[in-house]
Amino acid sequence: MAAPTTPAEIGGIGHSVQRKEDARLIEGQGNFLDDIELPNTLHMAILRSPLAHARIKGIDSSAATALDGVVAVVTGDLMDQHGLAWMPTLSGDTQAVLATDKVRYQGQEVAAVIATDPYIATDALELIEVDYEDLPPITTPQQSLEEGAALIRDEKEGQIDNLAYTWETGDKGATEEAFSQADRVVTLETHYPRSHPAPLETCGILADVNSVTGQATIYMTSQAPHAHRTLFAMVAGLPEQNIRIVSPDIGGGFGNKVPIYPGYVVATAASLLIGQPVKWVESRTENLISTGFARDYYMKGELAVTDEGRILGLRVNMLSDQGAFYSDAQPTQFRAGLFHVVTGSYDFPAAHIDCRGAFTNKAPGGVAYRCSFRITEASYLIERLVQNAAYEVGIDPAEMRLRNFIQPEQFPYETATGFVYDSGDYLTALRTALEEVGYEDLRREQAEARAEGRLIGIGIAHFTEAVGAGPSHTYDIAGLKMIDSAELRVHPTGKAILKLGVKTQGQGHETTFAQIVAEVLGIPANDIKVEHGDTDHTPYGLGTYASRSTPVGGAATAVVARKLADKAKKIAAHLLEAAEEDIELASGVLSVAGSPDRSVTIQDIALAAYTNLPEGMEYGLEDVTYYDPPNLTYPYGSYIVVVEVDPDTGVWQVQRMVALDDCGVRINPMIVEGQICGGLTEGFAMSAMQWITFDDDGNCIGANFMDYLVPTAWETPRFELLATEVPSPHHPIGAKGVGESATVGSPAAFVNAVIDALAHLGVRNIDMPVLPDRVWAAIDEAS
Ligand code: CDP
Repeated sequence: MAAPTTPAEIGGIGHSVQRKEDARLIEGQGNFLDDIELPNTLHMAILRSPLAHARIKGIDSSAATALDGVVAVVTGDLMDQHGLAWMPTLSGDTQAVLATDKVRYQGQEVAAVIATDPYIATDALELIEVDYEDLPPITTPQQSLEEGAALIRDEKEGQIDNLAYTWETGDKGATEEAFSQADRVVTLETHYPRSHPAPLETCGILADVNSVTGQATIYMTSQAPHAHRTLFAMVAGLPEQNIRIVSPDIGGGFGNKVPIYPGYVVATAASLLIGQPVKWVESRTENLISTGFARDYYMKGELAVTDEGRILGLRVNMLSDQGAFYSDAQPTQFRAGLFHVVTGSYDFPAAHIDCRGAFTNKAPGGVAYRCSFRITEASYLIERLVQNAAYEVGIDPAEMRLRNFIQPEQFPYETATGFVYDSGDYLTALRTALEEVGYEDLRREQAEARAEGRLIGIGIAHFTEAVGAGPSHTYDIAGLKMIDSAELRVHPTGKAILKLGVKTQGQGHETTFAQIVAEVLGIPANDIKVEHGDTDHTPYGLGTYASRSTPVGGAATAVVARKLADKAKKIAAHLLEAAEEDIELASGVLSVAGSPDRSVTIQDIALAAYTNLPEGMEYGLEDVTYYDPPNLTYPYGSYIVVVEVDPDTGVWQVQRMVALDDCGVRINPMIVEGQICGGLTEGFAMSAMQWITFDDDGNCIGANFMDYLVPTAWETPRFELLATEVPSPHHPIGAKGVGESATVGSPAAFVNAVIDALAHLGVRNIDMPVLPDRVWAAIDEAS
């Protein structure tokens, strides 16, 4: 019998095991999409519309076709001949693959050149002549819904205006009743602006369709390879068994690599028709102007409150800017994602949420950018409203929250819009963060500073997220239930391979998911290889986004490991000649209860599974699990930001940020901290600088990293991290999602801090990003 290994050597849950994937990624041995080379590969470049709204009167591609090295020029008409000019979106709309009738946003795909070399393909784009007839561009949802506005989706049967969807939830009557009892109504109208996930690796595809066998091997930057395989089968009509999607190493996704983009469809169709592999890799500008954006919600929130600072109800009207096609990647039932989590961390009985979305001449998207579907917007609204309510009622913003929090004993707690929060202790969380930052002293310093003409602000945000989508009774995307899976095979020498339905894009799944198996079976995490992203070699799953991997795929991993642990106990009982009920498994050692010297290791069991089994037992030590979560999980956090605002310039600097996060049981504390730092950086970016905007003609301002300001370590403040661990009670490993939550919670904390510095002047709102000129204008207007 081999000596048992220590828990630290095994590296189960709670250990900061070094990330296995880092060695290959840091040492240049990663395998990204553009690293993959196949013989005879052709290259594709896409011609994009320079105009936001125009009718296409004609396309002349003869000069491009004649260029040496050009194999084909693909237009919408050609795609149409194969029934592929339009494709379905994940929100049940249709989207142009290559424009046939009109272009509806700047950067829309109009034609594609397939050539022997990527430079020839790009050069040939300039030889394509498109005859456009200008149409009036619509760049805001308000303009879009005005009477007489040009119809953007004139191709859509029955579409008589620019409304993309309407959706409401909550109880209107009960909310009106709550408002009738309020002493005051606090109102906030604000815009969470459009931003872009901007993964460092842009999107791309290498489609290799064998014209003889019909086998399509598609290498693709996909956060959801299995779902993409099914959607490809449905859209392109290819038999699903012939489609293999391989999602190699991915340089960041952040929701941007969930939708199916026109370039994927054109490259696959071109490979099928030409019979050679076709590769397309986006440029930075293509990524920023045409792929899945995030946010762009215009929100009006009203909070009914009493003079004692008690919240009675919430009313929200939201208008979203959907761009030209309604292609949010979100669960089918929810037209505005999980925006209705907008009741936040507070206990009040009534809410009514009314949502509308409008088409505009902008790129489509609406992806879950570092948050569960649209929760960042919701969390921002409620945290800004509660802060303003505190000023209006005249109580401290921290006290306002403490008075209205859902109490620990109220969990599981059903919100006014139907979420059932599993667990939490919000009071302890906020009090801990307040103590850490030295809240009372800070308030004193703030008053003293104000007397000297200095503007110090203390911003709080306490958020609750809803992650781990989701239970099959409610959650599907395009009809596919949001379950996920894990397959575990233990080999005779005790080493294992774990195959996942989810797909990592940098989160460290190869490490943390191995740790879950290590925890259950005691096989060292380093002896477990984790495979993901290849649909031929992994079980089905809906993919990685919206902080669902660990709550769903991680749970599947725990469950499948437990199935193997059960079999391991049966084998141990046979080897040790003991009763199965007497076998205990701890740190990879299976022993007879009360006789610890009668033991075998999990490695002994692995060998026995292929050599020495009890009568009638099937050989092997492997299984697969599909996990259907009973509920979402609800991570939360308390964030406090201290800023100083320069009254002359409007420039604000972060002095401190204390972030306390709850993500249940931390599988790998080091990875969790990394995820949180990334999320906080994103939250800071949204509040301070990161912003895609458009001029009146619909030209995208933010088409490169000179205009679209992604923060670096230089601008990013230092974060002070704290943790509570309130395990998710229904969850197999007690873990909740992480990382995204930090982006959900932090923008409100930063903005609230700036507002807090100016609140005594009567300032209640500055739209994000809180640019110095906006701050300065607010001060100017107030004084
Ligand atoms: O879906 P996604 O992977 O983006 O998010 P996640 O499930 O929230 O996890 C992000 C990373 O943090 C993964 O490597 C998780 O396994 C890890 N994590 C953890 O170690 N402990 C937790 N309680 C939650 C996540």
